[in-house]
Amino acid sequence: MGMESKFIWMDGKLVEFEKATIHFLTPALHYGAAVFEGIRCYKTDNGQAVFRLREHAERLLDSARVFGFRELPFTTAQVADAVKQTVAANGFDECYIRPLLYLSGGGWNLSVDAGKASLAVAVWRWDNYLGEEAMAKGIRANISSFTRHQPNVTMTKAKVAGNYANSFLAKTESVRLGFDEAIMLDPQGFVAECTGENIFVVYKGKIITPTLADILEGITRESLITIARDLGYEVIEQPLSRDQLYIADEVFVSGTAAECIGLSEIDFRTIGEGRTGPVTRAIQQKFHAAIHGKDPHYADWLDMVAEPAKVH
Ligand SMILES: Cc1ncc(COP(=O)(O)O)c(C=O)c1O
Repeated sequence: MGMESKFIWMDGKLVEFEKATIHFLTPALHYGAAVFEGIRCYKTDNGQAVFRLREHAERLLDSARVFGFRELPFTTAQVADAVKQTVAANGFDECYIRPLLYLSGGGWNLSVDAGKASLAVAVWRWDNYLGEEAMAKGIRANISSFTRHQPNVTMTKAKVAGNYANSFLAKTESVRLGFDEAIMLDPQGFVAECTGENIFVVYKGKIITPTLADILEGITRESLITIARDLGYEVIEQPLSRDQLYIADEVFVSGTAAECIGLSEIDFRTIGEGRTGPVTRAIQQKFHAAIHGKDPHYADWLDMVAEPAKVH
């Protein structure tokens, strides 16, 4: 990962890959005091396009504010420019983009105010997070023995690096048990989300997804809800129980890294036909057309790398 990448953008400069290092005594490394984004850039007939750059740049700075950063080193427009510069400098047709805003100095007393914020952006080739086969066959998941965050223990709306210790616990356990992904329940016992994806159920022609109360507001989630409604499906946001997953006709997950992937099996129960179902497939296809610039209806979701960012 990252080995073919040539430059990493750090606090305003493009730094050669090998030289893009940070000191061992960086508080972010010790306490997870950082916020990040996951973004994708896709190839289109008109050049490289970053998917929903404005929303990702805004969420990065929102995460920083939620974490407690009061002095932000860059604006959303500058974050968007940094992303485009990094993509352009590395020359990939398609890539995954990782901005990280981190506590780079001070902070040993566990106060954000005692530190200083730095921003870096890296890109690398990362084709399909859950594997190419997953698109057609779907993946196998289990309900994790770990509970997802309670919103007043940590902040579920923010992509805080430290929050991902919870995802690491769950994902490691599920993969060791032989599953591809973990589904996490919230502290009340309702379905929340996966370790890095939001979740949807198709039941009797309707699509149900957990309410936003204690999950990350996924940008892919919002895009798929729009697409599903455009395709004529009713999408309902409501609490979802574990057994509703078992009896669903289809279950799929969404995220920048995983895109849109069906679940074939949950806790050793086959979901629907045990492969990517027709509703998931229809949404997947429209999403793929949108991200590759093949559906003009969603052109506004794409920010061309060669043009100034649509973010102000
Ligand atoms: C915990 C969690 N939920 C959901 C998502 C999906 O969000 P998005 O579609 O914005 O990538 C992610 C990935 O960013 C995540 O880490």
